[in-house]
Amino acid sequence: MKILITGAAGFVGQLLATELLNDGNSEVVLADVIKPPIPTSCKYPKKASSIKVDLLTGASDVITEDLDAVFVFHGIMSAGSEENFELGITVNIDSSRALLDAIRQKRPGIRVIYASSQAVYGLPLPETVDESIVPTPQSSYGAEKLVCETLINEYTRRGFIDGFALRFPTISVRPGRPTAAASSFLSGMIREPLNGVPCVIPVVDRSFVSWICSPKTLVANLKHALTVASDLLPPHIRIVNLPGIGVSVQDMMNALSEIAGPDILKLLSEEEQPALKEILYSWPTKFDNARAYSMGFKPDQSFVETVKDFQFSMKISNAAL
Ligand SMILES: NC(=O)c1ccc[n+]([C@@H]2O[C@H](COP(=O)([O-])OP(=O)(O)OC[C@H]3O[C@@H](n4cnc5c(N)ncnc54)[C@H](O)[C@@H]3O)[C@@H](O)[C@H]2O)c1
Repeated sequence: MKILITGAAGFVGQLLATELLNDGNSEVVLADVIKPPIPTSCKYPKKASSIKVDLLTGASDVITEDLDAVFVFHGIMSAGSEENFELGITVNIDSSRALLDAIRQKRPGIRVIYASSQAVYGLPLPETVDESIVPTPQSSYGAEKLVCETLINEYTRRGFIDGFALRFPTISVRPGRPTAAASSFLSGMIREPLNGVPCVIPVVDRSFVSWICSPKTLVANLKHALTVASDLLPPHIRIVNLPGIGVSVQDMMNALSEIAGPDILKLLSEEEQPALKEILYSWPTKFDNARAYSMGFKPDQSFVETVKDFQFSMKISNAAL
């Protein structure tokens, strides 16, 4: 199977590429505006190729007639799209449409998995959210994701692609550095203390709940999306809220303390940041993932497992240094 990943220099693209290149069943083409590195920690790096391309102008260069599937991950994230409207709308909408058109013309009907987000939702929200709730995004990023979801529905209805738009929960625990995203602390409050570094939690209410998914479960669900039968959803309804779990700030602190001992909590402090609070409290905190479960997508077992997995991956990458 030959699989293209766009935005492959990014966090999710690198994770998925590593996983696909470990099982050896796929040839993987990595495409990004920054030349994507071929993951070194995988078993079959020779099955990967890397292309530097701006998908706004070069989408048709990456669509070849031997492709079997495309993961659409490239884009400008939430803080970037809010800061620069033109950039967000051109990259997130125009380049995605150019990519879909290139697939329609050069390799029609293949599986396309589009990375959407729970950021399509905005207030007011019911207590429990599912795909029947009308998204009312409160960010440019969420609005751009919603436009692309509609394109995925329409291109699939017309038979141009066999698409799914998967709405990701917030991914935690994410390796690397803090980002400008409002959700950054949801990884930072675990990752930083485990690295001996302090982290400020920008909400003081420890009962504040976030809907999250571990990188490991996300990648397993993305791989599953390659094999999901197309007719599990009607051709004009291709949207799935990927499973997450609701975890409060207190739950996260408890998990950290269970894995690394109570003293580690001394590295955490709490300080309300009103600008972030407004964004964080506009996100859904509870989903009914029945559609995803019926299609075979899986949730995390618990946040404690997520922290254990993260700690294990830290040990492996430290050993490799
Ligand atoms: N990470 C999360 O928590 C999360 C949550 C919900 C949805 N998502 C979605 O998943 C996808 C992947 O997320 P991520 O965390 O890996 O993002 P990321 O920011 O790490 O990666 C995005 C990549 O897109 C590339 N890119 C930007 N403009 C481009 C262009 N014109 N042409 C080609 N490449 C371009 C960037 O260089 C970058 O490497 C995104 O679409 C994101 O919206 C992520």
